[in-house]
Amino acid sequence: MAENTAAPVREAWATKIGLVLAMAGNAVGLGNFLRFPVQATQNGGGAFMIPYLCAFLFLGIPLMWCEWAMGRMGGARGHGTTPGIFTMLWKHPLAKYLGVLGLVLPLGVVFYYNYVESWTLAYSFFSVTGKYFGIATREGMSRFLTDFQGINSPWHVSLTAYIFFLVVFSLNVWVISGGIAKGIERLAFIGMPVLFVFGILLMLRVLTLGAPDPAFPDNNVANGLGFIWNPDFSRLTQSKVWLAAAGQIFFTLSVGFGAIQCYASYLKEKDDVVVTGLTTSMTNEFVEVILGGTIAIPVAFAFFGRDITLQIAQGGSFNLGFAVMPAIFQKLAFGQILGTMWFFLLFIAGITSSVALMQPMVTFLKDELGYSQKKAVAATAGVTFLVAHVAIFGLKSGALDELDFWAGTFGVVLLALIEVLLFVWVFGPDKAWGEIEKGAQVPAPRFFYYVLKYVTPVYLAALFIIWMVQQGPDVLLMRGVSGADAAWRWAARLSLLAVFGCLCWAAAKSDRIKRICEER
Ligand code: ALA
Repeated sequence: MAENTAAPVREAWATKIGLVLAMAGNAVGLGNFLRFPVQATQNGGGAFMIPYLCAFLFLGIPLMWCEWAMGRMGGARGHGTTPGIFTMLWKHPLAKYLGVLGLVLPLGVVFYYNYVESWTLAYSFFSVTGKYFGIATREGMSRFLTDFQGINSPWHVSLTAYIFFLVVFSLNVWVISGGIAKGIERLAFIGMPVLFVFGILLMLRVLTLGAPDPAFPDNNVANGLGFIWNPDFSRLTQSKVWLAAAGQIFFTLSVGFGAIQCYASYLKEKDDVVVTGLTTSMTNEFVEVILGGTIAIPVAFAFFGRDITLQIAQGGSFNLGFAVMPAIFQKLAFGQILGTMWFFLLFIAGITSSVALMQPMVTFLKDELGYSQKKAVAATAGVTFLVAHVAIFGLKSGALDELDFWAGTFGVVLLALIEVLLFVWVFGPDKAWGEIEKGAQVPAPRFFYYVLKYVTPVYLAALFIIWMVQQGPDVLLMRGVSGADAAWRWAARLSLLAVFGCLCWAAAKSDRIKRICEER
């Protein structure tokens, strides 16, 4: 492969507000509106907020600062992704291969994320046209969802779902083709304000709902809020709840993916990361806890009561978002408008995250292999398009769950552990802290220096060990999974491994990465 070894001229964010909106868009995603309320309900309600807050303080904030600082530091020397950045931290040939995780994990999520995102656009369209209106039960809407997905058809996908996937995938490619300022920043500039307005309007509608059925006065929104936030402290002794809370923090903040480093690499060298990083994380938490926690579960409670809402939460995020919510919109005045707002809000939340998950590979190919923007986008789009079909055709057999597990649950904790060890322990705690503090509008509390040095790595290692002991063998050996399900799950695993292998090969070929090792 002929490689241009001159350092490329890198793009930059055009405005500070654009950067904050893009970073907030990176974090705010389907996880905030669909995953969070289900996780909170399943894992002790208000009590879930204790491990959630601990994970936010001891994992989320310190890792977010590390990732912003690492990204800015790498970007200043023309390396916007973890293969190059890790090699800067640890001048060892292995470092780039560890860094490849920061390309594979965001891709692993986007392989299925684009497909789910396409359902949200499809349902926005169905809400505008009133397609599902008239199917007023949850069961009916569940059937509507499976028919739309086509999972029981011979190809396990419907033509409509596939067309919407093609549309959404093309939109993602179009946005990343525009580059950082003209593609991603513009999307965030338009999309994020719309998301906030729709989210706040939906929250206000839920809060003013009262008790929709006078025959059941206890089924009201106030009790719905009580239901999601009612603390069940007995659950705090279960490690599963602590793992779920940490997993939610990783997923929602997009830490441990390699995506924050990539966006941060387009900062200027003296830009602040302490206050700006915290602002975007707090924005994400507002959207998650206040908006995400107030809309779906409380409204389900107001319409269906405690027992059914528990069943709904057990049914998972897709059931809540795509079967329960549309059934509810049909019972409300202006339901078509509310439905459109809900699904379009999910679509914006989704696309501002999916472009962030595709960008690391684009940046890697440009920075480390000297690809043009066009070629880098084409290669990234090609791989994403190809492997997305494993998630699409294997949806019924759990391929999506398998990708989500390896990339979005297991992988992120692993990458976070590696990056914190490299940044704090190999690069050095004082140098790492200096990088975080560089250009800071307000110094970061010193408390986090010690958190980063001791608490975060121990916390991550503990999560890892607990998981390995409790769930590792069953998951690794796919116990209880056979036939087509096992085949599709293996297809998902092998796809991830193949992408990992190809990207390791590309990292090994990069003269720009090699040169980092040669520098003193
Ligand atoms: N952070 C993104 C989400 O919450 C991935 O969906």
